[in-house]
Amino acid sequence: MPKFMPEPYRIKMVEPIRLTTREEREQALREAEYNMFRIRSDDVYVDTLTDSGTNAMSDAQWSAMLMGDEAYAGGRSYFRLLEAARDIFGYGYIQPVHQGRAAEKVLLPVFLHKGKFAIANLFFDTTRAHVELAGARCLEACCPEAANSQLRAPFKGNMDVGKLEQLILEKGPENIGMVVMTVTNNSAGGQPVSMQNMRETAEVCRRHRIHLNIDAARYAENAMFIKLREEGFSGVPVKDITRDFFALADSFTMSAKKDTIVNMGGLIGVKDADAPYILKVKANCISYEGFYTYGGLNGRDLEALAVGLYEGLDENWLRYRLGTMEYMGARLDEMGIPYQAPAGGHGIFLDAARFYPHIPYTEFPGQVLAVELYKECGLRACDIGSYMMGNDPDTGRQVKSLNEFTRLAIPRRVYTQSHYDMVLEGIGEVWRGRGDVRRGYRITWEPPILRHFQASLAPIEG
Ligand code: F0G
Repeated sequence: MPKFMPEPYRIKMVEPIRLTTREEREQALREAEYNMFRIRSDDVYVDTLTDSGTNAMSDAQWSAMLMGDEAYAGGRSYFRLLEAARDIFGYGYIQPVHQGRAAEKVLLPVFLHKGKFAIANLFFDTTRAHVELAGARCLEACCPEAANSQLRAPFKGNMDVGKLEQLILEKGPENIGMVVMTVTNNSAGGQPVSMQNMRETAEVCRRHRIHLNIDAARYAENAMFIKLREEGFSGVPVKDITRDFFALADSFTMSAKKDTIVNMGGLIGVKDADAPYILKVKANCISYEGFYTYGGLNGRDLEALAVGLYEGLDENWLRYRLGTMEYMGARLDEMGIPYQAPAGGHGIFLDAARFYPHIPYTEFPGQVLAVELYKECGLRACDIGSYMMGNDPDTGRQVKSLNEFTRLAIPRRVYTQSHYDMVLEGIGEVWRGRGDVRRGYRITWEPPILRHFQASLAPIEG
């Protein structure tokens, strides 16, 4: 079993956390109507609801923030960010926005409207929502390995390039507004996409003249996986891998709240600085986010982002980051507990359908497991399965997810080995008691879009 890799940081500021009693947690669940997003963070011991915006910034980032230029237009901090992003991604146009879904809201309607389709290796929830809000529809072409949590393959996030081409021909290339490559593939379990797969996807897009966008939230973890797993890359710096990977696409949308290790921020990148649609991107940005040199962020946030872009690519850091997931995966293997294997880049995705094979997808096994983990040890995780997928926008019917996962998304530079060990013990307890949980949940109220954030649930009796 791999040893836990020592943390490549030391701690100079602490935030107290408190372990509640089981009775307190059961009460908190009832008050939240079993929605993990409605539990107060004070009632959580280890919070793995998301790795988004929950990261600890470094001393270098905090000190850069004091240099923020808060000018409305043409601020110094904007140019610092521009320089860093151009250096890393090699793109001609860079646009800050306040987070990933803002990038989607600004860019996606430029390419998508009613009658159009977007195809991805899997959409994450907000991206799916913005495709649909633009009036278009989502199609997916994820490699088949992703659907089997027990099948160990190096790049389970890949696009199924054959299926992509088939979908393009079926719908007509003129009706495909955009292809989206999500890296790492969050819904598939934080699984990486290989450089080879990106090349093949780009080739299909080029041949059919379809725009290729990277959903780039976890680009650095993806590049590190390429370095560690793909032939020919072991000696290549992660920064160079990143640049080569991005050179294959036309644009990117990025939630910078993940690999860029800030609490708030996002980016849009366009490779060709002369692309005419940049004017539309700027116009949308000014309407929705703010002037294009701040994009809804403070000048100080732009500074933290510029520093974080480099810290996120630090190979010592990335080795530790992926090493943590590998350690947790190995401990789960020892206990015979099923998860999307091998472990992904930003967390552990427990295979809830194998915990509770008797609970159908319409009763949300991923949600059941999240509730049990919270009751057991104050761990907050979330469903990445049918509960998150929601209903088909045309038929209103419950969508069946490719997998029923309960995700532990690990915040960056926040927890230590003893937290992970405690969580692993808690998972072991819940695994041993899995036979006692007979039924799942029903939804008593839900909003029409992105329901998992707000819905109310109730346990099904019997
Ligand atoms: N794309 C991917 C792949 C994401 O994982 C997320 C967010 C977004 C886009 C949207 O970015 O939150 O900054 O607006 N994922 C978070 C998660 C929320 O928990 O995985 P955002």
